[in-house]
Amino acid sequence: MPVKKFAVIGNPVQHSLSPALHNFVFQSLGIDAEYSIRKVQHTQLSSIIQELKTGKLDGINITIPHKEKIIPLLDNINARANVIGAVNVISRFGKKLTGNNTDWYGFSKALEKNSINVEGREIILLGAGGASKAVIFALKQLGVCKIYLLNRSVEKAEMMSDDLVSPHPLSMAEDLIYSNSIIINTTSVGMQTSKSPVDLGLLHKNQIIIDIIYNPLETPLINFGKKLGAKTMNGLDMFIWQGLASLDLWFGVDISKQVNFNQLKEHLETKLC
Ligand code: ATR
Repeated sequence: MPVKKFAVIGNPVQHSLSPALHNFVFQSLGIDAEYSIRKVQHTQLSSIIQELKTGKLDGINITIPHKEKIIPLLDNINARANVIGAVNVISRFGKKLTGNNTDWYGFSKALEKNSINVEGREIILLGAGGASKAVIFALKQLGVCKIYLLNRSVEKAEMMSDDLVSPHPLSMAEDLIYSNSIIINTTSVGMQTSKSPVDLGLLHKNQIIIDIIYNPLETPLINFGKKLGAKTMNGLDMFIWQGLASLDLWFGVDISKQVNFNQLKEHLETKLC
């Protein structure tokens, strides 16, 4: 039996490559641990919390749609995760559970790795869920000058409105997207369907098109952007960096520095299409 047990919880979650990422790291670094996948409904969140408190699980990642709903069940929230308002990783210290957010870090590192500079730029951000909140945190740190936040349910975007963030219904995309826009998709549209969150006719070769979905590697948004010759970035680098940062939190050491990023990425790419 492995000494330490970790899992990702979500719904849907079968698309998640978190087990592949973490188990690859455990095997390559000889860590006695195991990482599994758990499809969890909202009503089951408190039993997962019990599993963490009683040591049946040593840490978890949280994905769609629980990143915000899990917060009231935790003992402590890291200051950044608190500002973001979403938690994607939980660690246990003694019997206390702490929520953290590594999505914002993963997103920043991915932009850096892909040489995408957002400083002083206006951003079209699609989606107003937990992942969007982390992306907004990262974008503000990187010095963007304005974020047009487009969401299907505009009232969710309105709750995130501030000096920098202006909320709009997703249906206004046509009025807000220009030929040189930076477009970032944080909605789940494109994950399990061949749909795009915005009309593909709004895409242009001079845009920067980012999708934080990594499964499939090429959503219709990324695929069409690539065909036009636009600069594109899929969600795989962000996913890897958030996962490595989760490991650093659980093990309290710089595991991420010992991992061969390119080998890990190649391993994950073989699992995707
Ligand atoms: P995550 O934690 O990954 O951000 P989430 O909090 O469940 O997941 O947020 C999902 C996002 O995808 C939301 O912005 C959601 O829009 P609503 O707030 O209107 O629900 C968006 N989304 C999901 N399905 C969608 C669809 N079919 N069309 C447009 N947006 C969709």
